Amino acid sequence: MNTKLWAGRFSKEADQRTNDFNSSIKFDSRMYREDIDGSIAHAVMLGTQGIIPVEDCEKIINGLKQIKEDITSGALLIDPDAEDIHTFIEQTLTARIGDAGKRLHTGRSRNDQVATDIRLTLRKECEEVMDMLRHLTDTIFNKAHENENTIMPGYTHLQRAQPITFCMQLSAYVSMLERDMGRLSDAKARMNYSPLGSGALAGTTYPINRAMTAELLGFDGVVENTLDGVSDRDFCLEIASALSILMVHLSRLCEEIILWCSWEFKFVELDDAFSTGSSIMPQKKNPDLAELIRGKSGRVFGDLMALLTAMKGLPLAYNKDMQEDKEAIFDAIDTVKMCMTALDPMIDTMRVIPENMRRAAAEGFINATDCADYLVGKGLPFRDAYKATGELVALCIKEKLTLETLPLDMYKNVCELFDEDVYKAINLETCVKNRIKK
Ligand code: ARG
Repeated sequence: MNTKLWAGRFSKEADQRTNDFNSSIKFDSRMYREDIDGSIAHAVMLGTQGIIPVEDCEKIINGLKQIKEDITSGALLIDPDAEDIHTFIEQTLTARIGDAGKRLHTGRSRNDQVATDIRLTLRKECEEVMDMLRHLTDTIFNKAHENENTIMPGYTHLQRAQPITFCMQLSAYVSMLERDMGRLSDAKARMNYSPLGSGALAGTTYPINRAMTAELLGFDGVVENTLDGVSDRDFCLEIASALSILMVHLSRLCEEIILWCSWEFKFVELDDAFSTGSSIMPQKKNPDLAELIRGKSGRVFGDLMALLTAMKGLPLAYNKDMQEDKEAIFDAIDTVKMCMTALDPMIDTMRVIPENMRRAAAEGFINATDCADYLVGKGLPFRDAYKATGELVALCIKEKLTLETLPLDMYKNVCELFDEDVYKAINLETCVKNRIKK
C-alpha cells in the first residue's frame, strides 16, 4: 500500500532511494511536541469555526495529547521510515482514532505546518540558549569581580601595552555576551509571529481564524502575507548569525585562556576536572575544552553559510531546499549549548595566578605611556614626552633595569623635568587607578 500523505495522484510506490533521500524524520522528530501543539491549536480553531464537527475536534485533541505522552514515555516509537514527523503523527492519529484524524489537515498544508513547528521549536531553544548565556555571563562577571585588584598587562598586537586589571579584561567579555543576549532576544521577538493558516502558499478558502491559532500558540500576531509565511526563514538566519557572533566571542575568550594557561604566560590554571592529559607526554595538562570550543566555532559559521546559501536563490514560495534549514539551525543551537555547558564550569573553577600577571605587568614597560603623561603634566608637549620616554626605555633595556628601578639621575639626564614623584606616577597601581574611568 502507498503510505504517502500524497498517495492519490501516484500509481507507483516511491523507490526506496527516493524515500531515504527525501525523508526528514531523522532530524525533524525533535519537533514532535511543537508539531502536536500546532495541530491541537489548529483543531481547536477548526472546531470553533464549525469547519469540522466538535466531536471530531475532541477526538483529535485527545488523540494528539495521547500521542505526545506516548512518544515522550517511549511507549510509541517514531518510525524511522516515515517521511517526516508531520506525516508520522497524522498517520498515527488516524490509525488510532479513525476518520476524525483525517479531518485534522483541513485548511492546512505541511508548508505552514512546518514553518509553525520550526518557529515554536526555535522559540523554546532560544529561551534555553539565553538562560545558559545569562548564567555564563554571571560566571564571567563573578570571576572578573573577584579580580578587581589583580593587575595584568593589557595587550595590543599581543605585545604588552598598558596595565589593566583582570577584572577589566574579563568584563570586556561580559559586554560582548550582553550584546549577544540582545541579538538573540531581538531575533526571538521578530520570529514570534504565526505562519499557520498560510496554507500551501495562498491561504485557504475555509473560514479559518488565524488570530485564534496564533494566540493559542503564544505568538504575538500572524505573518500577514501567506507566501512570506511559508517561505520565510529569516529567523533561522538571524539566530544562526547571532549564534555565530556569540561563538566568535567564546572562541576569542578560549584563545586567551589557552594562552594564559601556557607556561609562557601561566596567568591561570584550569581545574584538573576541566583539563585533559597527553597519551605520551606525562607532564602535559591540556586545555582541550577551550580548544574544542575555538574549533567548534567553525561549525556554527558553517551552519550560517549553509542556511544563507540554501535560501539565496529560492523563488517563492516553499521549495524542498528549505528542509535543509533544520539540520543547520539545530546543529548551531546544539553546538552553542554544548560549548556553554563546558565553558561555564571551566571558567568558574579556573584558578587565577595574580603574582604571574603582576610580574608580567612589571616587565614590559607598560607604564611608559604614564611616564610620558607625567612629563606632559609638567608642561612638555606629548610628542617630546613620548620621545624622551622612548629614550628611557632604550636606556633601561641597555642597563637591564625597569622604569621603576632606573635611578633619578638617569631620568634627569634624559629630561630635566623628572623628579622624585615620577616613581609614584609610574607605579602600576597608580596607572590602573588613573585610567579606570567609570
Ligand atoms: N519535511 C518538510 C520540510 O522540512 C516538510 C514540508 C514538506 N512540504 C512539501 N510541500 N513537501 O520542509
